[in-house]
Amino acid sequence: MNIRVLHNKRIVLGVTGGVAAYKAAFLASRLTQAGAIVDVVMTEAATRFVAPLTFQAVTRRAVHTDIFALSPDSEPDARAGELQIPHITLAKSANLLLIAPATGNTLAKLAHGLADNLLTAIALATSAPLLIAPAMESEMWAHPATQANVATLVERGATLVGPAAGHLASGAEGVGRMSEPEEILEMARVVLGQKGDLAGRRMVVSAGGTREAIDPVRFISNRSSGKMGFALALAARDRGAHVTLVTAPTALPNPVGVDTVQVESAAEMRDAILSASDGADALVMAAAVADYRPGEVAEQKIKKTDGALTLRLTHTPDILAEVARLRELGRGPKVTVGFAAETEDLLTNAREKLQYKRLDLIAANDVSAADAGFAVDTNRVTLLSADGTAEALPLMSKEEVAHTIWDRVSSLIQE
Ligand code: PMT
Repeated sequence: MNIRVLHNKRIVLGVTGGVAAYKAAFLASRLTQAGAIVDVVMTEAATRFVAPLTFQAVTRRAVHTDIFALSPDSEPDARAGELQIPHITLAKSANLLLIAPATGNTLAKLAHGLADNLLTAIALATSAPLLIAPAMESEMWAHPATQANVATLVERGATLVGPAAGHLASGAEGVGRMSEPEEILEMARVVLGQKGDLAGRRMVVSAGGTREAIDPVRFISNRSSGKMGFALALAARDRGAHVTLVTAPTALPNPVGVDTVQVESAAEMRDAILSASDGADALVMAAAVADYRPGEVAEQKIKKTDGALTLRLTHTPDILAEVARLRELGRGPKVTVGFAAETEDLLTNAREKLQYKRLDLIAANDVSAADAGFAVDTNRVTLLSADGTAEALPLMSKEEVAHTIWDRVSSLIQE
């Protein structure tokens, strides 16, 4: 599935000689599946661990290993018969230079500007951002020389992902393991998005279904998986925003490059949202916040009896309504967006919520359809604005819905 920030982006994936090179094949495959154009550049040592053919097969592109291998220039503006110099061509075309795994040796070369192979020559010739995923034995990682090299690279603007702690090639446990490909891919999204149209903006997003405790083992909740809210957080992050995600429990991993605040109940979500959204550029509430909670929470597990059990429910705080009151006092976010999860009278109910919660925009979400709403990867919403306009969006991935909402939020902030 395409990921917008990776789509048609040219990534030079440098693979150096470590056993983690086998994981780089999976990374190359995931980046390609996400829509990136991946040019793999391997050092001679890397080719001892994994054959170039593996990378060729997953990227469906030539793999580069030799700095002296001139090849016919296939760029559209090339003159007939002209040969391309691989390190210059790749360096110029790259949107991102990603080195995974990066050995201690390659880190040292990069820090000192050596260019004795194709990869290090590209690193010297490119103006693309550099993302490095180191992998080595923990002693090599901890060595002052490696640490000094890493500090130099970071000071020059390189981004580091990992290394992680865990099982190493030697059989030892320690810090030095290459980060998992999924985490590296997420970091590639962050780096590619850094100068996006939301750079410098501070966005707050809520996700998931709150849990309202009945007793120490039971709670009232709903079907929200968090997918819509997480998609919003990732999309804003991929466009350069600083994102705080306030989320009720979900099965999703904490997103890389996003400040994530875990909460359980509506009351906890309220506190986290009010504190994060003060002065923020926008708040988007995709969370399914419980409207009611048990009036009293039993201290011990409620015992089963023959009779019926009656729970007395009371209102939870209406978070968006409180945010609206703060905005009247000149505090709170510049723009607020809500979602209306409805099973009937979609637009009428959504419009009422838009007005009552004094929102700038609401996504009217018919949650009775099987392909939209709770726990699926797609959604179909109608965007209703405070100025009375309505835009019915077709069925889209939640990522696409998120980007469309951020497009609208971006215009609203500028107004
Ligand atoms: O998480 P997924 O599985 O991906 O599902 C996505 C979703 C269906 C949960 C999401 O797209 C959605 O529609 N979220 C809103 C769900 C909801 O609670 O709707 P509501 O109509 O009850 O509330 C309206 C708005 O007020 C929402 O923005 C809600 O976050 C907010 N609210 C609700 C109650 C409350 N006490 N305080 C609030 O601020």
